[in-house]
Amino acid sequence: MAIEGTRREFIKGSLAFGGFVAVAGLPAFADNPKHFPKRGAFERLSIIGCHVDAGAEKPFSILHISDTHLTAASPDDSEWARKEARRRSLTFGGRQEEALRDSLTWAKKHVDYVVHTGDLIDFQSQANFDLARKYFGDGMFGCIGNHEFYHGQKVENEKTKGETREAVAAAFPFDISVASKTVNGVNFVALDNVYGHITAEQMTRLEAEFKKGLPVILCMHCPPMTRNISRVSSKFWDRTSPKAVPDVGGFKEVTANANATFKDYKNWLKAQPLLKCILAGHIHVSVSDRFSPTCVEHVVGGNFLFHGQEITIS
Ligand SMILES: [Fe+2]
Repeated sequence: MAIEGTRREFIKGSLAFGGFVAVAGLPAFADNPKHFPKRGAFERLSIIGCHVDAGAEKPFSILHISDTHLTAASPDDSEWARKEARRRSLTFGGRQEEALRDSLTWAKKHVDYVVHTGDLIDFQSQANFDLARKYFGDGMFGCIGNHEFYHGQKVENEKTKGETREAVAAAFPFDISVASKTVNGVNFVALDNVYGHITAEQMTRLEAEFKKGLPVILCMHCPPMTRNISRVSSKFWDRTSPKAVPDVGGFKEVTANANATFKDYKNWLKAQPLLKCILAGHIHVSVSDRFSPTCVEHVVGGNFLFHGQEITIS
């Protein structure tokens, strides 16, 4: 197959330095759709492979995706939603539903289940809620993120979340507060932990899930910060962060509005020997780190960028 001129030059340039190229010299390569005119569904996907030894009765596998940020609005939606659809489609590329479909097509062939850890939609609209019903109704398990609650409010806290809780709950086919599903003796527990707020009732239900005595894979949108997850997140989002520094400021938790239960739950989780894995998203970049003696945390990059994690579980 002929290699297009620019690509050939890029590869030649890379090899001239033994495959080690100063980032300043890299072309804006991925931005130009001309470079991949015949790219198919699977050539767009970026899947990272991980393994979790949870003590399952029988091995199985999942595709973990997060942060699709669908930006749909129909003519029946409000003017705000229609404006937001135009504005945010430019932010996320406008191919988010394609990314989701490609991910699910791949998943049907290669894994047993799909887990989505929130921000499936970017803002509230009837068209977005319809898409949530459509895709979660197709056997997906997961939790919601902060964007499921976004309806144009300036402040994001428990009060503004409460303003639209019923509309969100009606669009997702699981309990958006705490939900669970057992697969081959492994308990997948989904928790709404956005805005740094966990209610006492959620905590009681979380404790009840662990009392079932099964290994737990905890699915939530915002990753509990470890040193490495904090470093990667800071480096990705803070454009002024220095290069080649292994620690750019320590353990930043999203706790501006954190309530007392939220402040305690991380230490409580660390002491749970049945906790085998945490799946999260939110920061739009893939990173894994040890959370506790028994648990590794896997954060997956944005599905709007066609990212996913294939996780085999034994
Ligand atoms: Fe997100």
